[in-house]
Amino acid sequence: MRLVLLGAPGAGKGTQAKMLIDKYGIPQISTGDILRKAVADGTPLGKEAKVIMDKGELVTDEIVIGLVKERLGQDDCKKGYILDGFPRTTPQAEALDAELAAINTPLTDALSVDVPMDDLMKRLTGRRTCKSCQQMYNVHFSAPAKDGVCDKCSGELMQRGDDTEDTIKNRLDVYEKSTAPLIDYYNGKGILKSVEGTGNIDDIFNKVCSILG
Ligand code: AP5
Ligand code: MG
Repeated sequence: MRLVLLGAPGAGKGTQAKMLIDKYGIPQISTGDILRKAVADGTPLGKEAKVIMDKGELVTDEIVIGLVKERLGQDDCKKGYILDGFPRTTPQAEALDAELAAINTPLTDALSVDVPMDDLMKRLTGRRTCKSCQQMYNVHFSAPAKDGVCDKCSGELMQRGDDTEDTIKNRLDVYEKSTAPLIDYYNGKGILKSVEGTGNIDDIFNKVCSILG
């Protein structure tokens, strides 16, 4: 399976992708995670990306296309992969299609995780992530047993720098303008599927699995 996960910030792309890794035995490729690692490592790319990400804007197509091409060339992607947060502009989608056409391995599915805009702000302001194992929590919906501490590994929980109200508002605007058009793009390619992303996380996962087969 070569899957693209589509959905607004906070729709649950990362949450579902992490569950799909185990089910299908294929890696998650999250451009957001790759960029956050570059920021944490203080690389030149990370320094450039941090300014953009803190505003909720998009990093340039050139940079993310380069990152994804490199990642797709690694061995663990031979069996398939889950793209999370890429593509998010039409030029990114076109570059991905061209790259995959050249090696005769087109995308098999694009799954849109649909959540009403009104729910997203609460999900994003409430999100907490473990610094050590990246397990995700939500102080409103799936709080850890002990405040600030990961249930799985006892690691410290942190809040993402772009999960502030003003930045979230901009991320949602940028999504509507630049990324939502990809739903039509993949519909036109005949590979679009969609799932309602509200309700219990495990129930959504079961729906996702039956849609993907
Ligand atoms: P990125 O990291 O991709 O962030 P995003 O698209 O804004 O999406 P999120 O990760 O915030 O949401 P998600 O859908 O993964 O939700 P999650 O599962 O965490 O990108 C960050 C930035 O990097 C961008 O703004 C941009 O600057 C840059 N960037 C990245 N890729 C780029 C690209 N291709 N081009 C250009 N720039 C790029 O869930 C959210 C919360 O909700 C969690 O707390 C979770 O526990 C909770 N939750 C999940 N499901 C449910 C449920 N069913 N009910 C209740 N709560 C739930
Ligand atoms: Mg995510």
